[in-house]
Amino acid sequence: MGAGLYFGEFAIALGSSRFDWRDLAGRVALLLVSYAAFMVLQRFVNRVAVLRRASLSINLFVLSLLILLLLSPQLGELHVAILPGVIVAAIFLAITIALQFLDVVVFTWSARWQRTAPVPIVIRDIGRWLLGVLALVLLVRGFFPGANLNVLAVSSLVVGYVVGNATQDTLGNLIAGVALNAERPFHIGDWVTVSGHTGVVVDTTWRATRLRTRMEDYIAIPNSSIAKEPILNYSRPTPCHGCTLEVGVSYEAPPNKVRTTLFAVLAGLSQVRKAPEPRVYLRTFGDSAMTFVIKFFIDDYEDLDVIQSLVMDRVWYAFKREGIVIPFPIRDVRLRDGRTDEAQQAADELAAKRQLLEGVDLLRSLSPDEMGRLAAAVSSEPFAVGESLVRQGEPGDTFYVVRSGRVVALAVQSDGSEVPVAHLGSGAFFGEMALLTGEPRSATIRAETDAVVLAVSKAQFAGLLLGNPGLAKRLAEVIETRHADRRAKVDAKVVADAVSAAREPVLDRIRRFFGLA
Ligand code: CMP
Repeated sequence: MGAGLYFGEFAIALGSSRFDWRDLAGRVALLLVSYAAFMVLQRFVNRVAVLRRASLSINLFVLSLLILLLLSPQLGELHVAILPGVIVAAIFLAITIALQFLDVVVFTWSARWQRTAPVPIVIRDIGRWLLGVLALVLLVRGFFPGANLNVLAVSSLVVGYVVGNATQDTLGNLIAGVALNAERPFHIGDWVTVSGHTGVVVDTTWRATRLRTRMEDYIAIPNSSIAKEPILNYSRPTPCHGCTLEVGVSYEAPPNKVRTTLFAVLAGLSQVRKAPEPRVYLRTFGDSAMTFVIKFFIDDYEDLDVIQSLVMDRVWYAFKREGIVIPFPIRDVRLRDGRTDEAQQAADELAAKRQLLEGVDLLRSLSPDEMGRLAAAVSSEPFAVGESLVRQGEPGDTFYVVRSGRVVALAVQSDGSEVPVAHLGSGAFFGEMALLTGEPRSATIRAETDAVVLAVSKAQFAGLLLGNPGLAKRLAEVIETRHADRRAKVDAKVVADAVSAAREPVLDRIRRFFGLA
């Protein structure tokens, strides 16, 4: 009955001589201009995220307000139900906007202030929609007391069925989204692999779960796909994550030496967890190499790439120092001439070492013979930036001369922090204190850039001390100066401990330690 009658009433109203067409045209024009002005304004307002989320509701609300303001008399004349209908729409939209603001304040902001996980979007949306429907029913009842809500409910069911059939996938995603939120196999901020994609969970909406990948891209995976597939969560039950790396090593290297070197590398990296303990396995005897598998644990999956690369870097440097070769199946064709000859290379290397040692003030008193023997005996060891060459408190019997790069000497304060006491570049030496007195290392030496050092063993040094009586005296002076310098830079408690530990003059300690007269 209704529709036919309404059209009839419209037609009568529009056709009646009472209807002022010019007034209506003016009002409609004003409405369009005002609405256009609002749309321009809304482009700026939408920069605020909260307002952007509610932008459709705000837009419709403003439109309904403009209609009420400018067209009320005409609408009233058209049909009695239109004006209340627009009022109901305006109030409903106002409630929708208010609910959206409330949602942001209660769930997003308060979660941020209290540092708790935000309530999932799907749950919040369901709550908001239920409240919205309730408000709509109450409004319809209030403004249209005679309206039959059963008709509304039945027609909603029919519409729901039709829409539901047409949007089966969407409903599947919605239900999967609710199930995911109830089961919670992951939380926002977790690192996961789902449907073959790895990333950090950004959010779960009605349709999909969004991940931010390592390439800083977003990928939205439909909730129904996630519900069907295994989910690998790297952040739970704890963020601790195990990684494995493989490294091929020449058959010349004894496996135990390789294992010790790899363990030392892992122990020297603060990013590698001490527990669970790192493991090293010899996996295969291949065509040209033995393959070792390194297994270690890190604190956070997010840092995986960086830490794996760091471990590989350090393995390269450590292998180089230990003379462990990583074979590579590359056909290396070289045209040899006099300069690239191996003997010539060795001679160049020896000359370079000798030149460096001759530049060290402390060693000036060495005879040419002694200098030659020393240059031939020292080994050249590369270190990566950030690596510790010696550690404070550890025993040590090697003396070092910096060949290239720069290192820093760090003293540990009483609160455990490290303070730099000296920066040492090419030609500077360190490690003399522990070597000459037998005491633990007085500082940690760390590479500030990639660095290469010449290492002199205790036996080599003992020979030099015996042949050069003045050397021990000069070294004792250096040690006294460095001790004083170090004392000036560390806190009072460390100074007090050092003073009480070292009562004997340095020169006497050196002589006693090396059995010198
Ligand atoms: P050693 O104690 O064997 O190991 C740490 C080294 O750091 C130490 O020998 C010195 O060579 C060096 N070192 C300690 N304090 C200073 C300093 N104040 N200036 C320069 N080098 C230092």
